[in-house]
Amino acid sequence: MSISSVPSRMDPRKLGTSAAFGPELQLAIRLAHEAGSIQMERYERLEKIEAKGPRDVVTEVDHLCEALVMKAVRERYPDDAFYAEEIGEVPAGSQTNSGRTWIVDPLDGTINYANGIPFFCISIALVADGRPVAGVVYDPSRDETFAGAIDGPALRNGQPIRVGSKELLADLVATLAVGGRGMVRKRRNVLKSVRANRSMGSAALTLAYVACGRFDVYAQSAGLSAWDVAAAGLIAERAGATVTSLEGGPWFDLSRPAKKWSCLAAAPGHHAAILEMLG
Ligand code: IPD
Ligand code: CA
Repeated sequence: MSISSVPSRMDPRKLGTSAAFGPELQLAIRLAHEAGSIQMERYERLEKIEAKGPRDVVTEVDHLCEALVMKAVRERYPDDAFYAEEIGEVPAGSQTNSGRTWIVDPLDGTINYANGIPFFCISIALVADGRPVAGVVYDPSRDETFAGAIDGPALRNGQPIRVGSKELLADLVATLAVGGRGMVRKRRNVLKSVRANRSMGSAALTLAYVACGRFDVYAQSAGLSAWDVAAAGLIAERAGATVTSLEGGPWFDLSRPAKKWSCLAAAPGHHAAILEMLG
């Protein structure tokens, strides 16, 4: 697919539904769309797939998307820091440090992407005072833009979205990435209580799916980093979901090292029950 043929249903200028962070959210959406164009242009035409570890790969597209976002953010907001999956932490580019940080996963679901499975996204969040204040998750293969800000609603392609409203636990569709000691029995208990379990391979997009009710529960016990959840966790919260760590504490905590984050997101009426089963 060429850049010009990537569909784009919405005008990013109409998506600034945040009074306080409107310009930042609009920039994030524009950059997510530009990175999404790169992702679609190179989809199934990758030149380089490198192993980062036994269960992790990186492609040239991860690097290209990250560089695109970082360059534009640095030009527009030189006082902000930058923190992204491939490059790590980059301090503010000027003497005047704003205390804000852009947290970016340039390609979440890289294994899917590298294998030709169309479930991946880019995630861009702005963090101020230690919490995400604006975020976008863009799925270029479906041209779906999930966005939200601390003072505005959660949106998909410009329309408000809400977390699922099912009453019965037995009707819930969950996505459980939980493992490790003691988890087998707990996981089995949840699986016995809900309708179905589906694993997708992109934490950010899965969490955005909780925000719009496609999934009712998302639980991951380990392996997450700030860039996986910063934008989507905010979007899910703005859509009415209860989001915590799998211990029931705050889901966003920059003092945690990368790969050591967990997450549990669900409709408020079901979060406590799932937490009790898994926590
Ligand atoms: C990974 C995906 C995956 C999650 C891992 C993440 P990546 O991110 O979101 O679903 O289980 O914890 O690291 O490597 O595709 O950007
Ligand atoms: Ca990721």
